[in-house]
Amino acid sequence: MATEPPPPCDALVLFGGTGDLARKKIYPALQALVRHGQLALPVIVVARDERDTAALRALVHDSLAAHGAVDEAAFAQLAARLTYVAGDYREPATYAALRQALGDRARPLYYLAIPPAMFPVVVARLAEVGAAGARVVVEKPFGRDLASAQALNRTLRGVFPENATFRIDHYLGKEAIQNLLYFRFANAFLEPIWNRNHVRSVQLTMAERFGVEGRGAFYESVGALRDVVQNHMLQVAAILAMEPPLSTQGEALRDEKVKVLRAIRPLAETDIVRGQYRGYREEAGVDAASRVETFAAVRLAIDSWRWAGVPFLIRAGKRLPLTATEVVAELHAPPQQVFGEALDEPPNYLRFRLGPDRVTIALGVRTKRPGQGMLGRETEMCFCDQSAAASDAYERLIGDALRGDGTLFAREDAVEAAWRIVEPVLGGDTTREYAPGSWGPAEADALAAASGGWREPD
Ligand code: BG6
Repeated sequence: MATEPPPPCDALVLFGGTGDLARKKIYPALQALVRHGQLALPVIVVARDERDTAALRALVHDSLAAHGAVDEAAFAQLAARLTYVAGDYREPATYAALRQALGDRARPLYYLAIPPAMFPVVVARLAEVGAAGARVVVEKPFGRDLASAQALNRTLRGVFPENATFRIDHYLGKEAIQNLLYFRFANAFLEPIWNRNHVRSVQLTMAERFGVEGRGAFYESVGALRDVVQNHMLQVAAILAMEPPLSTQGEALRDEKVKVLRAIRPLAETDIVRGQYRGYREEAGVDAASRVETFAAVRLAIDSWRWAGVPFLIRAGKRLPLTATEVVAELHAPPQQVFGEALDEPPNYLRFRLGPDRVTIALGVRTKRPGQGMLGRETEMCFCDQSAAASDAYERLIGDALRGDGTLFAREDAVEAAWRIVEPVLGGDTTREYAPGSWGPAEADALAAASGGWREPD
């Protein structure tokens, strides 16, 4: 039986609209939504600073100029929809002013682009002014361990039902990740080989050339494991490893992701290598004796019929040699070397480049080198190679939340399942120093040694 689509939101309320995230990601996404005719509702910005709507418009204009580009026609339409409400998030008066700004709008989307410590306060105040019919968007981090994630989920659930709660993991909104999901389940040739019989290992690398870029104080409270592994990387791993969903409608996709996350064994100390780049401790906001990891390499084991015995290796870090997110699934080597060639690596692999600027899907094969001998060379067959827009994720996700489509958002049970995986190794302090511009501490190589070592993205 077809279910009625939920009614769309009739206003967007942005808490924290003068902050970093709003400037860098949210306003460019709103401008893009306007340009594509997808945002025709009032946008009310709530923040603590004393300013007015005219000053807010100037801030939005500056943000667009600094993070993308100003499309003057789209900006003019967006600017006309903006209203600024100044106030302390703890004060009931702020919410009275917000209620007034909303007028007769009854189905707002409350977007909490604020520090997580403020979530309980704001959510409680929203309940007081009436949250029936509203939706809420929260940004990661969704807690800092399993217990705090559960507490946050309880706070949200007390006011907003799960189908009105949208947890943004912006990776899920990226074109590259959509492409990965599509490629896996729109083709039949992959399925027979996509399992332990043919795949020897799966590697995910999220490398960033830059350091913490002025976010030292924030980074001190997270580290690489909490910042990107527990969320972005485990979500990508789930898409790679999950069973085929019946469809992408309703909860089918998210149900399958949770199933595979639950099949991933909680990490042990022997499955992780932590690193910290030399110079991190001199960054602003960073403790001079910090043990926080700016690099983490982990080896996951999935206890499922499909993946038993296949290592899923993840490494993520800052100040690495380049910026690239890439997945490489290596297939087993042929059972015999018929041509007598000694190969360093198994010849066949699938490579998914997930950004930042390119989306690529390629198959590595060996072909014969022209000439007399039976010697080969590595060749890549590219199924897809396209440029990636940096700003597509937030546009897609905000549009989906306004329409009430939660497919690309992290569900409560998935967030908790992901915390269960990393929980045993949170807070470990065996952090090894690595040289900026290197691939992390040498010990990370040992983690991947049994499955042939890491493949570096180009
Ligand atoms: C964020 C992390 O979630 O993702 C950052 O907090 C990281 O540390 C960023 O740099 C990477 O996302 P993107 O989309 O810029 O690759």
